[in-house]
Amino acid sequence: MHDVESVGVLEKKYSRRTFIKGVIATGATVSSANYLFRGPNILGAATLQSTTERLLTLTVNGQERRVDVLPNETLAMTLRYKLNLTGTKLGCDRAECGACTVLVDGVNQYSCSILTHQLRGRSVTTIEGLENADTGELSVVQQAVMDEGGFQCAFCAPGFVMSMTAMVANNPNVTREEARVALSGNLCRCADYDKILNCAMRAAELARSV
Ligand code: FES
Ligand code: FES
Repeated sequence: MHDVESVGVLEKKYSRRTFIKGVIATGATVSSANYLFRGPNILGAATLQSTTERLLTLTVNGQERRVDVLPNETLAMTLRYKLNLTGTKLGCDRAECGACTVLVDGVNQYSCSILTHQLRGRSVTTIEGLENADTGELSVVQQAVMDEGGFQCAFCAPGFVMSMTAMVANNPNVTREEARVALSGNLCRCADYDKILNCAMRAAELARSV
């Protein structure tokens, strides 16, 4: 039979509608088979195991927080979307901008680049944890920002404030040039660096007077 004729015969025998029905039926069968062959015991065991591993207790801003964390979940995601601590910002999400900076055991870290599971037994501080919880008094860095008004859109501000907090805790006698280096892991898309450094110098001054 000529090729064109044979195609015509096939089209009549297997219409487009028949073909689509066949594909759907095959897919449904495969899905059902997968479900049945995996069996309830295997599924149950996997679910139980992963749930146990995913639950962990984090110390955040001085409080113990119990949270269900996915194996590949970053600290930034946990803070913002599980613990509702949205002061921590997500910019690049790949260790370039510093918007997500928090303190881990007092050291400034990019929370977008740490897996939450690595933080069992560690202490995390976010921008929400800087002010005095009892009196509402601002930290020296927060007060310095209020004094100097150092940001424009302020998207970068929480990250800078956390890096400044680590900086003045380490060295309240920091010079402007040292502050420039210490804060170089934080980027400001409004390029407000001069005023941000004014804040840093004011924060150091306040830290020396405490
Ligand atoms: S969001 Fe983490 S470094 Fe940019
Ligand atoms: S003030 Fe806008 S990103 Fe820094």
